[in-house]
Amino acid sequence: MRHDHITSTKQLSRGDIEAILDRASDIAADPSAYADRQEDALLGLLFFEPSTRTKMSFSAAIKRLGGDIVDMGPVDSSSVKKGESLADTARVVEGYADALVMRHPSEGSAQMASEYVDVPLINAGDGAGQHPTQTLLDLYTIRESAGLDGLTIGIMGDLKYGRTVHSLAQALTNFDASQHFVSPESLKLPRNVRYDLHEEGSSIKEHTDLETILPSLDVLYVTRIQEERFPDESEYRAVAGEYQIDADLLSAAKDDLTVMHPLPRVDEIAYDVDETSHAKYFEQAHNGVPVRMALLDTLLEGEP
Ligand code: NCD
Repeated sequence: MRHDHITSTKQLSRGDIEAILDRASDIAADPSAYADRQEDALLGLLFFEPSTRTKMSFSAAIKRLGGDIVDMGPVDSSSVKKGESLADTARVVEGYADALVMRHPSEGSAQMASEYVDVPLINAGDGAGQHPTQTLLDLYTIRESAGLDGLTIGIMGDLKYGRTVHSLAQALTNFDASQHFVSPESLKLPRNVRYDLHEEGSSIKEHTDLETILPSLDVLYVTRIQEERFPDESEYRAVAGEYQIDADLLSAAKDDLTVMHPLPRVDEIAYDVDETSHAKYFEQAHNGVPVRMALLDTLLEGEP
């Protein structure tokens, strides 16, 4: 995978995924062994949209490998404000860094920018498109808690605009996983994502209600309604507040159900779930560091 751009989980084979997750497990077991693996490497951060976990865990990851960041900072204080194109920005900053991480509100932007640069470019979220590194840490978390084969997973919430959903669903086609999608009619999977899943021959079912399938699930992946992507506020208000879970509702689930969420949550998961053994979402967020270390180490390493 040396010098590959990572723009979508479509490009990742089962072998690629397992190699990264195995390296992440190695790192988690002995982080000090990797402390100077990428000494002097610089990671360029281009965030055109808000981020807490993704940006901070990428920063932590490169620093834990011995490298450092160069950060474009807020869009308002960058030359984007002066009208610089994304292609020009990408071409300039590739001269300042050994790899780039980019988040942008437009779907397809990471793919477009990657055409202009030679250093690896990692998509940290392109609008309602993809978020492949979130998927890698999701898969790591699933592998640790439930295992990736013979998995029954429910993916619930905003399946239309949720990029973490699109990436995860696609990546799971590499494994023996039954995928159940739970959402209001208006937030079902986009046609192109559903088409790709069918093409991969993957087993998927769509539901508008959680109760009937909850008892069969090994993992429930809850997502936030992506308010910022709704073209019209009344469309958002019609579905806001639907599809919430709490500890009481989970009493119908398997004892070892794993509840995940890419975070941030708004009101999809009640705080009383945090106290149950189902809750894995904070651990999931923490897994972002070893997983992103593994990915950066793979992309930046010398000869394969
Ligand atoms: C997600 C995102 O940005 O797509 N956040 C994250 O990276 N963990 C999910 C979200 O914003 O709802």
